Amino acid sequence: MVLFNVSRVETTPFDGQKPGTSGLRKKVKVFKQPNYLENFVQSTFNALTPQKVRGATLVVSGDGRYFSKDAIQIIMKMAAGNGVRRVWVGQNGLLSTPAVSAVIRERVGVDGSRATGAFILTASHNPGGPNEDFGIKYNMENGGPAPEGITDEIYENTKAIKEYLTADLPDVDITAIGVTSFGGPDGQFDVEVFDSASDYVKLMKSIFDFESIQKLLSSPNFTFCYDALHGVAGAYAKRIFVEELGAQESSLMNCVPKEDFGGGHPDPNLTYAKELVARMGLGKSNSEVEPPEFGAAADGDADRNMILGKRFFVTPSDSVSIIAANAVEAIPYFSAGLKGVARSMPTSSGLDIVAKNLNLKFFEVPTGWKFFGNLMDAGLCSICGEESFGTGSDHIREKDGIWAVLAWLSILAFKNKENLGGGELVTVEDIVRNHWATYGRHYYTRYDYENVDAGAAKELMAYLVKLQSSLAEVNEIVGGIRSDVSKVVHADEFEYKDPIDGSISKHQGIRYLFEDGSRLVFRLSGTGSEGATIRLYIEQYEKDPSKTGRDSQDALAPLVAVALGLSKMQEFTGRSAPTVIT
Ligand code: G6P
Ligand code: ZN
Repeated sequence: MVLFNVSRVETTPFDGQKPGTSGLRKKVKVFKQPNYLENFVQSTFNALTPQKVRGATLVVSGDGRYFSKDAIQIIMKMAAGNGVRRVWVGQNGLLSTPAVSAVIRERVGVDGSRATGAFILTASHNPGGPNEDFGIKYNMENGGPAPEGITDEIYENTKAIKEYLTADLPDVDITAIGVTSFGGPDGQFDVEVFDSASDYVKLMKSIFDFESIQKLLSSPNFTFCYDALHGVAGAYAKRIFVEELGAQESSLMNCVPKEDFGGGHPDPNLTYAKELVARMGLGKSNSEVEPPEFGAAADGDADRNMILGKRFFVTPSDSVSIIAANAVEAIPYFSAGLKGVARSMPTSSGLDIVAKNLNLKFFEVPTGWKFFGNLMDAGLCSICGEESFGTGSDHIREKDGIWAVLAWLSILAFKNKENLGGGELVTVEDIVRNHWATYGRHYYTRYDYENVDAGAAKELMAYLVKLQSSLAEVNEIVGGIRSDVSKVVHADEFEYKDPIDGSISKHQGIRYLFEDGSRLVFRLSGTGSEGATIRLYIEQYEKDPSKTGRDSQDALAPLVAVALGLSKMQEFTGRSAPTVIT
């Protein structure tokens, strides 16, 4: 057994190591500064407390983006230096964010051990490569992201850090499955490299009826494709869709994980998943080839998803509503009923209506998956989703891109039980339109203004808050822009009191609520790595089934005009158009 020594290395704080909505995300160049990553990791260990770190079993892996391999070696050495007992690494350092959550909750190590937490190395849907982003976040023993109490503490520690602990271990080979053991001053330290997919695949098989999905995928009238955008989802897609479910290999697009995501932006939306969008016959494609019946994409770390039908886009807000409405019938894991459902505040109110009709507990939380975790741990919520292309359930404590695809395939398989083998299929579009006919439709769009001057963004938000003091004035402005828009009846800044731990989260977005159920929401993104991103969420409810088939941008045009005018968007930001519309 190789022996190692531990040394204390002196360091000085870096500014700006405050974890955002989902960990610390910065340019690779920033992370590569000597001691930058080390400071953050030691600050995390200190926040967890030395007592809990000593003897711990930590998962360390991520989406495989550039700098991950170096980071894994650094973190392993620091883990050994801090008295961690074991580090678990997915083969080649690859584990999707949902798979990390599953591994923490489900995996048993070769020596019978269980994980106590994880460092996830990802900047999610942000591009990767030497000039792009890297990121790191810590997940707790329940498999979910560290709560604000811990991340605040990490940040405080980064401001005062003076030294970190590290071991003089040799680099460990993370390409081969197996255990490497070392001996240190605190005893043995093991690195266990394991297959990135098997625990996750096992979990998925315990949730869904793979046999019925397999029948759907092998039916001659059903066609399927999946785009991993060169993110870590590729490491799971082949195993699940091809090997387990029998999809054709040619249905996988960009499923080889790459350090720079092939130069693309690994964000599954209509702007960035261009190849999939064209293949599904959306946008300006003139292809003669008949698009597949179903298409989906994932982001870099595979927790996000986009669901498409043939020439048809399913909004993430509709997706979670439809999954919730059909889960009990179509997905064995939910057959005993749903404990409750939840959405983030800017997500459309479609889920509220499903919850009301099905008599389910319902929660509205601030943006950020971590807020769902408490509800799930308390047994109050089974399915939840966000407008930001995140959908998931209480099987883990992260959103789950492949789970969402399997959920949709299950619903399609259920609705088409009688139609397989030939004949007319109930399509993705049929399912969505039928849902609207039953529950009404929430026309929905999001405008993103990326990389806006941070000062200007703050001013715009402050202006909107100030405006809220007089609804009469607001309505005068609104009426002056469009007379065909209903009245604002309530406006506030969203605040959330967690029903389980009583913690209060303030300033979670500015809302303007209209008499007819429409909403305008303004929020600053918590996940960018440069400047500020303003998000504008626009939503309008239509109950009349004869009016639910309109083009969404047409239907929302009056509210969009009101939102831009009310916020003086162009005046504050200098932008005449958003960077991305979803
Ligand atoms: C991450 C979180 C999501 C959240 C999203 C919001 O993906 O995991 O829970 O919805 O960030 O991002 P934003 O940029 O809008 O803060
Ligand atoms: Zn992600």
